Amino acid sequence: MSKLGIQDVTVRDGNQSILATRMRREDILDLVTALDKVGFHSLEVWGGATFDSAYRFLKQSAWENLREIRKAAPNTKLSMLLRGQNVVGYHHYDNDVLERFIRLTIENGIDILRVFDALNDPNNLRNAFKFVKKHGAELQAAIAYTVSPVHNNEYYVNLVKTFEDMGADSICIKDMAGIITPQTAYDLVSDLKAATDLPIQLHSHTTANATPLVMEQAMKAGADIVDGCIAPLSGGTGHLADETLLEVAKLTDRQVDLDIDALNEAYDLADIIVNKYIESGDLRTRSLIPNPRILTYQVPGGMLSNLLSQLEEQGASDRFNEVLREIPNVRKDMGYPPLVTPLSQMVGTQSVLNVLLGERYKLVPNEIKDYVQGHYGQAPGELDQKIVDLILEQVEVKTTTVPPEDLPFVFDEMKNKMKQFLDREPEEEEVVAYSIFPEPVMNYYKEKNQKEETHDNMQSEKVDEVVSFRMIPPNQ
Ligand code: CO
Repeated sequence: MSKLGIQDVTVRDGNQSILATRMRREDILDLVTALDKVGFHSLEVWGGATFDSAYRFLKQSAWENLREIRKAAPNTKLSMLLRGQNVVGYHHYDNDVLERFIRLTIENGIDILRVFDALNDPNNLRNAFKFVKKHGAELQAAIAYTVSPVHNNEYYVNLVKTFEDMGADSICIKDMAGIITPQTAYDLVSDLKAATDLPIQLHSHTTANATPLVMEQAMKAGADIVDGCIAPLSGGTGHLADETLLEVAKLTDRQVDLDIDALNEAYDLADIIVNKYIESGDLRTRSLIPNPRILTYQVPGGMLSNLLSQLEEQGASDRFNEVLREIPNVRKDMGYPPLVTPLSQMVGTQSVLNVLLGERYKLVPNEIKDYVQGHYGQAPGELDQKIVDLILEQVEVKTTTVPPEDLPFVFDEMKNKMKQFLDREPEEEEVVAYSIFPEPVMNYYKEKNQKEETHDNMQSEKVDEVVSFRMIPPNQ
């Protein structure tokens, strides 16, 4: 029997996928303390939206949270998700901020950095890879999994070979939308195992309700590690339960060394915790309802619900099917980007506009204008040149993309600004956080000093997040 590792992602991706990243620090720490005793390969605890959400909604220092988590989990490796040159944000940051962030992350307790880029563009990843290696953590290179005429297994094998040459210690198939099918999971893991000796980890979501079969096939094909969540916080747009993964492992003759008593204790604790979020409304029943249609449309579940609410706002819910048919067309025009943040919102919004205005590309969001100028990186396939020309006609000032290395360093300027509103010398980690999310971090410090302002700011921040996905191109 070959060994299988399980990474538990409850407090990071589980939290993000079904609790909108609203899990409180005390619950995170209690869960991590319990999960630490189970013997997981690793615990994913940080990165993605948790950094942003800590300052923006929870009014907590993300760095302090990480240190507390590290203390609570002395026995297990900790991992995080990093968006390449975008760090934990939505646009490119300069190399100085990127390196400081990675170094501080490792100094504060992260052992494994899972690094991905929405377009799978190695140019958006190479600096992050270099700094992870330089500062001594495990570099897990992730492929953003998608399906399109240009994304076949050969493409992924080549990408993984590139990642291996770039120094990857392990590989993650990051099926962030939960659209991998059992058969493709088997084929892809088999092909990657044949192409590299690096450990292969599969990350998927239960949105389509096919995940036990997906995991079974991946285990059969030799996946080394799989991701799951403790059962009460699993399912729906989240992940397969750790407990279910154990059963699947038995079926496929894979050996998993977990302490079952400790796992049961973690279950009991999670079962109490989840009730609080059901009562508060942070856990919405809707997010637990399976949606197998995404396997047919290859459109992420989160994107479907966003589109529906966009159309409802316009009083045009009846155009939903037209928009669903338009998405593959827009995606083709754009060179088949994976439908992951921010591309999923961009392609979705453009599809809605094309349908509602009755003329394709009559109105184009700024993000799409930036995308066709290359500011998000290299698209996986060819863009439709006629469409690009049509969009560029609407761009007044065209800009060229600068390599991330050439972005000017902002640290000193941000440090000075911080000094003014803090009225003291800021710590390096505070300046790094402020450089990545200026407004939420400044508001966090202001509110720390003036508690009475809290309510209004939180209200307006929430509205901002829902209605806008504005992303600043790398060279602006
Ligand atoms: Co995920």
